[in-house]
Amino acid sequence: MSTDREAVIWTRLGGKPNRMGRLYVTDKECRFTYDDDYLQLQQPGLGLVYAPEYYGNTTISRERKKPFDLFPPIQSLIPPRQNDNFQRNLALKYLQKKHGQQFSSLDMTSFDADWEILKVSGHGGIGHLDVFEDDHCADSWYNNPPAHELMEITDELGFSLKQFMTWFEEDIEVFIRTVGPTPSVGGAIPKLLLSIPESGWDGRIGLPTRQKTPGIIDVVLKFEQSTRYPGIIELEMLTLEIHREAGFDVPRYWPCFFKGMPALAIERFDRDQNNTPLYCESLYSILASGIPLNNHYDYRYDLIAQALDLSPVEIVSHIAEAKEHLFQRLLMALLTGNGDLHLENLSITCIQNKKTFSKIYDPAPMRAYAQHDMLSVMPFGDYGETPEDADTAINLKQAVYRFAKNCGLNTALCDSHIETALSQTADFNHRVKQLTTVHDENKERLIKRTESVRLKLSA
Ligand SMILES: Nc1ncnc2c1ncn2[C@@H]1O[C@H](COP(=O)(O)OP(=O)(O)OP(=O)(O)O)[C@@H](O)[C@H]1O
Ligand SMILES: [Mg+2]
Repeated sequence: MSTDREAVIWTRLGGKPNRMGRLYVTDKECRFTYDDDYLQLQQPGLGLVYAPEYYGNTTISRERKKPFDLFPPIQSLIPPRQNDNFQRNLALKYLQKKHGQQFSSLDMTSFDADWEILKVSGHGGIGHLDVFEDDHCADSWYNNPPAHELMEITDELGFSLKQFMTWFEEDIEVFIRTVGPTPSVGGAIPKLLLSIPESGWDGRIGLPTRQKTPGIIDVVLKFEQSTRYPGIIELEMLTLEIHREAGFDVPRYWPCFFKGMPALAIERFDRDQNNTPLYCESLYSILASGIPLNNHYDYRYDLIAQALDLSPVEIVSHIAEAKEHLFQRLLMALLTGNGDLHLENLSITCIQNKKTFSKIYDPAPMRAYAQHDMLSVMPFGDYGETPEDADTAINLKQAVYRFAKNCGLNTALCDSHIETALSQTADFNHRVKQLTTVHDENKERLIKRTESVRLKLSA
């Protein structure tokens, strides 16, 4: 026995809150209908595939099928059902405290739990979609933004922390107990959304903005889990820097300490200079809206290039440019030991009507860590496969050429990109050696892997 559920979706796209439409979830389907008033605004909608221009006010329905109970852009607002996911555990603890016994009896890996999480964490997060239980909740969220205040991070911060996470509208003692004073957090990189002075990190923080706040920018604060990934902050900074030097668009970032924990504050690219949300969607959400995908790496890079070209939905405004970007991103990932460039680490943003790959995020060289030591989480150029008319498997360089071809690049261009990427990463290993918080074992592994890639690509 189950009951249909309903929620409303709002957005602050364009600077002013507007209701986008209504969401219904039955035992078999999720359904969404745009409001007529919203359609008049000619703004982005739920996502690229579920866009207002394709559906108008016709109800969009989608079968509930693993791993998606909801439309992918909405599903991505819910931290995944992994026992060790920090964000999910935090939300669950909060809900347990709020609802007590009644909530404790709920299966924490069920859709019921997901839905409860969505109602508290579905607004004010990354991206442009805000999910609320009803319009009343939306009104009170938008119409009562707390006055913006910057506070020093001190040991007494506990009380002010009350308001930090967007989900914890009232009580956050649970959060304080989880994160501080001696945090031992588990799971995928813990993150906090905060705001800081526009001039950069100076030890003062505020709540994420909910309206235009001059002099203040929004940031994602990523914490280092020093036991699981020692030195990851330094490594992520190094690769952000290398991408910046190589000419990629990289957000500003500041290394910092948050109650003794090493952390990295990164300027958000899903907000503009007026703190207004911008359309932003991961490739996972976009692709899974159109085709069945089992997880965020259930694809091939070559197929991404093909999708950019052939999808009936316009994914990017300049296809050739985007395919070249994709190719260069993969080269940089291979050469910096990041095997983790999956569909959730690639996003599309729309700024002034131009859809492009977003700024760089999450380029951390995960091969430094034994549990993530793989060349690439998704296949490309048939690497390692043996074509029917051949006796030997396709080697790394051949695979790169094949992928380049699928990105519309000829051999000369491919060679030139390889040469450029090799020179842009030439001092990578030297710089890795100089890091102070990465263990020798992790440095050695990373250096060995990237040296091997360099050799193969230079051959
Ligand atoms: N600077 C940013 N601006 C806007 N959104 C961001 C930014 N950095 C990260 N995000 C969003 O937050 C999500 C999580 O961030 P990120 O990928 O850096 O960490 P993570 O996925 O937890 O790390 P890992 O993949 O190693 O577990 C991203 O998928 C992206 O949607
Ligand atoms: Mg990521």
